[in-house]
Amino acid sequence: MSSSYQTEELIASDIDAYLEQHQHKSLLRFITCGSVDDGKSTLIGRLLYDSKMIFEDQLAALEADSKRVGTQGQEIDFALLVDGLAAEREQGITIDVAYRFFSTEKRKFIVADTPGHEQYTRNMVTGASTADLAIILIDARKGVLTQTRRHSYLAHLLGIRNIVLAVNKMDLVDYSQQVFDDIVADYREFANSIGIADFTAMPISGFKGDNITAPSPNTPWYSGPSLVPHLENVEINVDADQAKPFRMAVQWVNRPNLDFRGFSGQIASGEVAKGDAVRVVPSGKTSRISRIVTMDGDLDKAVAGQSVTLCFEDEIDCSRGDVIAAAHNPPQTADQFEASIVWMSDDDLIPGRAYLLKLGPQLVSATVKEPKYSININTMDHLAAKTLDLNAIGVAEITTDKPIVFESYAASRSLGGFILIDKVTNATVGAGMLNFSLRRAQNVHWQALDVSREAHANLKNQKPAVLWFTGLSGSGKSTIANLVEKKLHRMNRHTFLLDGDNIRHGLNKDLGFTEADRIENIRRVGEVAKLMADAGLIVVTAFISPFRAERKMVRDMMQSGEFIEIFIDTPLAEAERRDVKGLYKKARSGQLKNFTGIDSPYEVPENPELRIDTMAMTPEQAADMIVDRLLA
Ligand code: ADX
Repeated sequence: MSSSYQTEELIASDIDAYLEQHQHKSLLRFITCGSVDDGKSTLIGRLLYDSKMIFEDQLAALEADSKRVGTQGQEIDFALLVDGLAAEREQGITIDVAYRFFSTEKRKFIVADTPGHEQYTRNMVTGASTADLAIILIDARKGVLTQTRRHSYLAHLLGIRNIVLAVNKMDLVDYSQQVFDDIVADYREFANSIGIADFTAMPISGFKGDNITAPSPNTPWYSGPSLVPHLENVEINVDADQAKPFRMAVQWVNRPNLDFRGFSGQIASGEVAKGDAVRVVPSGKTSRISRIVTMDGDLDKAVAGQSVTLCFEDEIDCSRGDVIAAAHNPPQTADQFEASIVWMSDDDLIPGRAYLLKLGPQLVSATVKEPKYSININTMDHLAAKTLDLNAIGVAEITTDKPIVFESYAASRSLGGFILIDKVTNATVGAGMLNFSLRRAQNVHWQALDVSREAHANLKNQKPAVLWFTGLSGSGKSTIANLVEKKLHRMNRHTFLLDGDNIRHGLNKDLGFTEADRIENIRRVGEVAKLMADAGLIVVTAFISPFRAERKMVRDMMQSGEFIEIFIDTPLAEAERRDVKGLYKKARSGQLKNFTGIDSPYEVPENPELRIDTMAMTPEQAADMIVDRLLA
């Protein structure tokens, strides 16, 4: 699907290979955050260089490059190294986050580097979601900036508890202790206000190498740790995840032949041993672990962080996205939540629109309500918000179309963190953290009905269907829909026509023509059409329904083959020429706002079941064609 999570999977295999090589050292994952030009690339280049992770020939090329671009003296421009690597990796595939691996005698490291300056928040969120530590880079000449606050807030929100405040470019402020102290005091005030209790501040120069591997003679007033030793020694709480109850989301079902059936994934928390009683959520089925299989043979026990394949004693159902958990302490399921959301798309969040929500391997459809508030990153004030725009952070309620297995993000990053994906473009548009579930869902149970939808349809002797007309105002939808219904009625079919102008006088009279209202209009009409199809009817609808996403949403609500999208294709100029209701004239003169085709978009269907070219046939001919298609 979207390139971003293909990339994640691609990287996962690199990471596994790397971990394999340095198995016996502990691992620190970290991320560097900074504004443009804070020296992030230089610092990462320096770390890689000082840990001798650069191959000799790359080094030679780098020295040559640095000379060419005129870096003074013999110093190497480390930024060139990192940017060069990034460009290399970016050739085939757009990569959001590049993970760089290096190790010292004591520890191995994975640093999430986020190339490019655009969409920085989005890259940062991706990298931070798995990091143990964040280096917040500050340019000593500039001090604490809005970006510094945003990244610190995000790092904290994403659960990173180790923060390093690296005051960089100290060489450019003459290694002034005053400058350093002022920045640290400034940052401390902000950090405390967002709940960062502690951080380690250090004066560095990525370019000159001060306080990177060893204390610098240029900062005799500084007695704290240098960066690399700090990264080597900082305590990371790996045991915390292991102490929690056992959970593993199933990434894939491994069934090479009939004799073997295993469930592969990475253990999110806790530990599991052969013979343990487990429960598959959401189905609730239980069994015991018969084998724990890995590349290097079977294990008796496995812990959080390990990737394993689990086999059960019994043949119970379990598929991708299910969570295998401790039998007596399983996670909950819910379909309504409060979540913190970071918006990462140029297009604003549209409350009410259906997005894909991906939580680990679980993929469902979800809608976000109008935010409760968004956060002003400079003052931490809660602001009233109708939507979230690029880089905004807010809190909103989310509803999923079916229950998902979850935990709060505070309890589990892997079962509480999710991304939102645009259904049409497949782009990742937001990232979020589940705060808690809203328990409503658990009290409203779906009522099992005795007279089934098949029974309704059988009695009427027909197959239910939804004939969904879409097209510009004045394109001829209502006229043709009317003829279609008359024809079907004459053929003894049980039908019902839902028409935009009529529905807007009753059920939807509270809705106008903003984007959000049109989305809600179509959502309600879709739900009504679905109920009517469940009652066995052939439903005919005539709404502009200008957006692909909502037409697709209704399509997905119906059973396969039941939704017939009919594009009434009349050129704008022709609809405007006819102007049956005089609305185009009003729109052109500015009396009517948000008019489709004039100052509100219409997204032409890409793959409708039928396209009616109204310039090439009469309404009668169009109606015949539609009825033929339905009864074919
Ligand atoms: S939709 O966009 O939400 O699908 P719908 O089909 O219900 O629209 O309603 C469209 C009808 O409302 C038009 O045929 C027209 O008669 C009327 N209308 C009034 N204002 C507008 C507007 N700004 N844009 C489009 N249609 C409008």
